[in-house]
Amino acid sequence: MAEKKKFQAIKGTRDLLPPETELWNRVEHTAREVFGTFGFGEIRPPIFEKTRLFERAVGSETDIVSKEMFNWVDDPDLSGAITKIRTEIRDTKTLPAVDGTAARAMLEKQARMGAFNNLAERVRVALRPEATASVCRAYIEHEMHALPQPVKLWYTGPMFRRERPQKGRYRQFYQIGAEVLEMVPSFAAKDAASAGGAKSAPKDAAVDAEVIEMVMAFFARLGLEGVKLEINSIGDRECRPKYVELLRAELLKVKDKLGPDSQRRIETNPLRVLDSKLESEQGIIAGLPKIADHLCANCAAQYAEVKRQLGMRGVAYAENWRLVRGLDYYMRTTFEITAQGLGSQNAVCGGGRYDGLVELLGGPPTKGIGFAIGEDRLILSLQEAGKGGAALGRDVFVAWMGEKAQATAIAAAQKLRAAGFRVELPPVEQKFGKALGQADKLGARYALILGDDEIVTGQWTVKTLASGEQRTVAAEDIVAFLRGEIEQQK
Ligand code: HAM
Repeated sequence: MAEKKKFQAIKGTRDLLPPETELWNRVEHTAREVFGTFGFGEIRPPIFEKTRLFERAVGSETDIVSKEMFNWVDDPDLSGAITKIRTEIRDTKTLPAVDGTAARAMLEKQARMGAFNNLAERVRVALRPEATASVCRAYIEHEMHALPQPVKLWYTGPMFRRERPQKGRYRQFYQIGAEVLEMVPSFAAKDAASAGGAKSAPKDAAVDAEVIEMVMAFFARLGLEGVKLEINSIGDRECRPKYVELLRAELLKVKDKLGPDSQRRIETNPLRVLDSKLESEQGIIAGLPKIADHLCANCAAQYAEVKRQLGMRGVAYAENWRLVRGLDYYMRTTFEITAQGLGSQNAVCGGGRYDGLVELLGGPPTKGIGFAIGEDRLILSLQEAGKGGAALGRDVFVAWMGEKAQATAIAAAQKLRAAGFRVELPPVEQKFGKALGQADKLGARYALILGDDEIVTGQWTVKTLASGEQRTVAAEDIVAFLRGEIEQQK
């Protein structure tokens, strides 16, 4: 008999299991709490959107969109055609085994015959590689500019990028992110990027600093260790293009000394050369012009103010002029946070300002700033620091014997669960010795022992598993008794 192939999770995806999921829940719960204190409400956008949204927002030339997106054509005509071809291949013995070639040839024939001619943009969909684009789309779609501004939203959920999997890098990973969006009525449409000019610099800088302060407060609450914040300003529509040209000119002079990736980026996106980790390029990059020396007056003023505001909030930072980020929508403030125990994939959070993105997606002139935390990496770092938390234990194991005892045990479990205790109730009767052994294995703190005597007298036996101590408690007092015990041990 042919060996059955076991199904396995797809490369780059994984199952999150208990007790680790306890930690995931704690992290998400803490995010909800901390972000709530800063006035953020939760948004839950869909996990797939039109491909065009990400092309427009994140940028068609970025790695995320051009190489890493899971996208497909969601078209009933096409699906129907593929199903038909599959059936034909199965039914006609004349065609060779389904090797893809025959199917492709038939599809091509159908395409030539015009079967898919009305395939519109709207049917290209993608699993979201990030959520800022979705949040901006939702802001426009639900006319959130009519709400009191700014609108502060946070989210958590899976994102998808077809990256090479390794520690801390997955194809389905989770982010916890937040965005602050504010429509600017007086914003000159053609000048979205330098919105508001010098006058709004202090206000924007304070918003940037508060958003960063919030992430840092969240990390501090979780006890994340080795947290390092790096900041930069990448200028706006006015000053960045001039800097990029300067950078390109300088890079062309040293082109021969650069690797193939950087050589290509001189044309496509010279800023990304600054991201290079190639050892041989580091010396060259160190000598390149720095954007901080080429910011326009507005951007320079805002950057200085961001640093002052961070200082006022007691947020420690380092400046990194090479921090350009891999998404097209950023302008001015960018930042990244690293944490310990993560190896090469140590960025646990990335974010920045993206004034003008909502407008680019067809909405009103709007400012934006936000970040996303890599939740998988955050969890890894907490675990490495020994902050993974205990295994999923039980408060009470109900050991029962005898038919009468089962009814009492069920009632006791119901009462204890309603009071919030974690209760394990064996489905079948077990000898007390075996039951207590199982209670130990599950890490239960107490065993509630219910046998004939207990049922008759209404006096229940409670055993503390760690010490072996046994006490008798009146049935009606059980909840209060266990509450008191657990409270005492806190
Ligand atoms: P990002 O830098 O692409 O930014 O991703 C943010 C974080 O997500 C990274 O720092 C990292 O921790 C985590 N991450 C990214 N890719 C993976 C992966 N393959 N596996 C595990 N973790 C990963 C954004 O996504 C922007 N939307 C952030 C933002 C929000 N900017 C403004 N608002």
